[in-house]
Amino acid sequence: MKFGHFDDEAKEYVITTPKTPLPWINYLGTKEFFSLISNTCGGYSFFKDAKLLRLTRYRYNNVPMDNNGKYYYINDGKDVWNPGWQPSRTPLDFYECRHGIGYSRFTGKKNGLSAEVLAFVPTDDACEINKVTIKNESDTVKEFKLFSYVEWCFWNADDDMKNFQRLLSCGEVEIKGSAIYHKTEYRERRNHFGFFSCNCEINGFDTIRDDFLGLYNDNDRPDVVVNGKALNTVASGWLPIASHEIDITLQPGESKSIVFILGYVENPDDDKWESYGVINKKRAEEMQERYNTDEKVEEAFSALKAYWDNLLSIYRTTTGDDKVNRMVNIWNQYQCMVTFNMSRSASYYESGIGRGMGFRDSCQDILGFVHLIPDRARERIIDIASTQFEDGRAYHQYQPLTKKGNSDIGSGFNDDPLWLIAAVSAYVRETGDLSILDVQTPFDNDESKSTPLMDHLKRSFNFTATHKGPHGLPLIGRADWNDCLNLNCFSEHPGESFQTFGPSEGPVAESIFIAGMFVKYGNEYADICELRGDKAEADRARKEVKLVYDATLDAGWDGKWFVRAYDAFSHKVGSEECEEGKIFIEPQGFCVMAGIGVPEGNAKTALDSVKEKLDTRYGIMILQPAYTKYHLELGEISSYPPGYKENAGIFCHNNPWVSIAETVLGRGDRAFEIYKKTCPAYIENISEIHRTEPYVYSQMVAGRDAKFHGEAKNSWLTGTAAWTFVNISQYILGVYPTLKGLSVDPCVPKDFGNFKIDRKFRDAVYHINVEHTSGSEKGVKKLIVDGKEVKGTVVPFEEGKTEYNVTVVM
Ligand code: GLC
Ligand code: GLC
Repeated sequence: MKFGHFDDEAKEYVITTPKTPLPWINYLGTKEFFSLISNTCGGYSFFKDAKLLRLTRYRYNNVPMDNNGKYYYINDGKDVWNPGWQPSRTPLDFYECRHGIGYSRFTGKKNGLSAEVLAFVPTDDACEINKVTIKNESDTVKEFKLFSYVEWCFWNADDDMKNFQRLLSCGEVEIKGSAIYHKTEYRERRNHFGFFSCNCEINGFDTIRDDFLGLYNDNDRPDVVVNGKALNTVASGWLPIASHEIDITLQPGESKSIVFILGYVENPDDDKWESYGVINKKRAEEMQERYNTDEKVEEAFSALKAYWDNLLSIYRTTTGDDKVNRMVNIWNQYQCMVTFNMSRSASYYESGIGRGMGFRDSCQDILGFVHLIPDRARERIIDIASTQFEDGRAYHQYQPLTKKGNSDIGSGFNDDPLWLIAAVSAYVRETGDLSILDVQTPFDNDESKSTPLMDHLKRSFNFTATHKGPHGLPLIGRADWNDCLNLNCFSEHPGESFQTFGPSEGPVAESIFIAGMFVKYGNEYADICELRGDKAEADRARKEVKLVYDATLDAGWDGKWFVRAYDAFSHKVGSEECEEGKIFIEPQGFCVMAGIGVPEGNAKTALDSVKEKLDTRYGIMILQPAYTKYHLELGEISSYPPGYKENAGIFCHNNPWVSIAETVLGRGDRAFEIYKKTCPAYIENISEIHRTEPYVYSQMVAGRDAKFHGEAKNSWLTGTAAWTFVNISQYILGVYPTLKGLSVDPCVPKDFGNFKIDRKFRDAVYHINVEHTSGSEKGVKKLIVDGKEVKGTVVPFEEGKTEYNVTVVM
């Protein structure tokens, strides 16, 4: 069942009922100011950091679901209703939500009035604009009242949820004209405030939540809205809100639009006040002025569209399959941008107050994002590398505002260092910019301990090379990519963090997944060394890689698949000899991707085992058989009920690894089959089962052992976005940036047909035509560049050339 449809022309998903199985959200904002917005206008806004600078309040785990947002109420004398349906939930005569690229547009109609809300964050400003347009579609005069509503959050969202004894006495506001200012804590250490304004005269306002709603009332029918009269309340303590009352009369056919702005403003410390206790509003008023007419809003909106059109023109494909085109050209890249901006911090499943930026997560996000805005990827890489320690280890997370490593979670996730190589390699391959390797980069954010980034890569590499266990395989530490495989923690009591409990430096437990990473990224490290002319280091690196390659085929091979790990007692995890958890997906995907066992035949055997043991119609499960009891020696993985999350869920993130691995073996049919199973556009019509947004990937789909097999959770913020984009764009469609230029080597289904790709790459445009011979899955028979046949798959790079016409016959 569907709850809407794609509009590819407009690059929108059109939701046609407010009652989607779960809130279906969108993200507004490209750089610093961000909002989450659901299909019923729920959500919240923040500046840079969802934990530390939260502007509006959201209530999690709420009933009714998805409550608190930026709401507009209409009281037309007969009914109280909202264009986005929530929170009144008054049935509408018409409802539509169009989630677009960086904006959302809502249309609600009731009793002859139509109300549209266009919400977006301009590309270069710290505010969200809501343009509300109301039209009288009836043939009688309409008199009605419009009320706006936002609830302020006291900036630190964590404190906001807990520290009531303090915060309920701190709330402060100011009202000037049509703007309501939120200045809680501004009197002391903060130099920033929020405002909610509109560009017309108002008939009243409210800032005291309890008076606006009415005591013991909910926001579905606020007293003020129902009574049709604002109370002009000025908050002092408790829970401040911002609400405007605007009385409107419209002739038949007439319409009116009002621009509301939710803004964030910082003042220099010595310029905070206009007079004693009164905020200096100069910057806020300038911001209000920037969008005070429909024309100015239109201009800002066009700029946003142009910004995105430009980004989405960097990689564009035309294949015979609309769903591939739609995902590649629009939604998958869009999600990559969102994951790049958010890491795993703020979604409807990530509270925004827990994790900041993940080291491994952000490094992987770069893989899917780097072609879009390489400069920002470069900056991010330096931020991430600056949280590394001198011995190559890394903080597992850091806070985006301070950019400092998070000491609560600390270090000891032994895959982390290698992801830095992955990110830098992707950046250098994309841009050819070797200068990044010379950037002086601190350790643990201590500028006095800075070395060139290249040296950070070396330390990453060496960390793994020097932290090996009894089988010559890399030590796992607290966990590797699978955060829930905690082989050194042994947590027995509730409340202990599975990851940070116990020693991280277990000298025995080893990871075959990290072994796969080491081979893949160790080779990429060696390639970079070579390119820089450091042949000795490249040779040394390849020798180290060879050791781990051999150890993997030796101690890491179980007969029909790769073993997952050795636990702290040197028992196998992910082996035929285990009672539960006999086979895991991660080493199969990653080791084959790295090329391990390809010539020896193990690779093919491993992938065949994946198909036989782990495949379902909704995707490939992370392991089988599921753990049915808690294993102290394995940790969090066995804490989930069978079929969910890391315990035999379909963890979407590593499905593309297997798909990529299949392309390594040249099996295009199977690679594409795997791609389709978790790809949103292909499962749109089972939205009642899948439940999360049909335009983006989710972290997890419940596996075969779960009660709700096929149901997704944790949408949006997942490494799945980056990895599927890498998979479809670089391996299946096959346009892969190498250090020496763009390689074109597709691996597609036998009946895929011809296709085209337009790719901007290092200051040039490549128009690529792939002539696909039916029955072929992989293999370049001919590569023709501007009429000349060329050997191999890499389009030779010519200095100064800005356009390449490439034909590939496969
Ligand atoms: C979550 C984490 C990611 C981890 C994965 C598997 O998605 O964000 O870092 O690799 O789970 O545990
Ligand atoms: C929890 C989650 C896991 C996630 C991890 C991040 O363990 O279950 O999916 O990767 O937290 O730290």
